[in-house]
Amino acid sequence: MVEFALPKNSTVQKGKTFKATGAKNTKVFSVYRWNPDDGGNPTMDNYEIDLDNCGPMVLDALVKIKNEIDPTLTFRRSCREGICGSCAMNIDGLNTLACLKPIADVTGDVRINPLPHMPVIKDLIPDLSQAYEQYRMVEPWLQTDTLAPPDGERRQSKEERLQLDGLWECILCFCCTTSCPSYWWNGDRYLGPATLMAAYRWIADSRDEKTGERLDALEDPFKLYRCHTIMNCTQTCPKGLNPGKAIAEIKTLLMQRQD
Ligand code: SF4
Ligand code: SF4
Ligand code: FES
Repeated sequence: MVEFALPKNSTVQKGKTFKATGAKNTKVFSVYRWNPDDGGNPTMDNYEIDLDNCGPMVLDALVKIKNEIDPTLTFRRSCREGICGSCAMNIDGLNTLACLKPIADVTGDVRINPLPHMPVIKDLIPDLSQAYEQYRMVEPWLQTDTLAPPDGERRQSKEERLQLDGLWECILCFCCTTSCPSYWWNGDRYLGPATLMAAYRWIADSRDEKTGERLDALEDPFKLYRCHTIMNCTQTCPKGLNPGKAIAEIKTLLMQRQD
């Protein structure tokens, strides 16, 4: 009989507990910790936070932990207003942005893990190298070859510009991609919702002249067609976007050009 052993560092252990002494209004933040330099298993460390002395968002609590309790806690953040996409993590079982997630929305302890199914660099920091490389592959910039460069801007009608709404707002947080079961199992070949929506953003752009080539590059059983319309991506997007719909639009365009 085959015996399976869990790989090293795969079992999450109970970690340290930090109490908020003297505080009356507290909440526990249970945070995934893993330090590659330790060579040990990951732990869930519990930090009791005095909510009367903390901002309203989960990111505020993480910053408070780092500043006042445990400076070794590692996470990404920059803008703290849902623009940079760097504070993406799994909070209370859902991929979202820590800076946009109100603490009050979580009942009971706040469980915080890194974005799922990505290699972890340290604590709450996932390695997004593969996702960025896939993003680069769709050549996410305006491409023209027949038009001489205009003197000014490349103009669009209002209707043409409207086609980009719901696409350009993507902040590349990869909450959607890391919530997608197809990406979990085939992430090495399936491009995932964030990158496919980025590809569609340029396909839908009236000024871009590489639509055919862009569609050719996506016509592949793995790159595009691993999407099975499960729609986790759209449900989890913290910006309220609909990458599942963008993927469906690409499939429709590919079908139409076969007619
Ligand atoms: S709709 Fe497609 S991309 Fe979105 S979660 Fe489902 S399989 Fe993944
Ligand atoms: S579509 Fe939404 S969840 Fe996906 S990367 Fe863009 S902003 Fe993030
Ligand atoms: S810190 Fe920039 S999106 Fe959260």
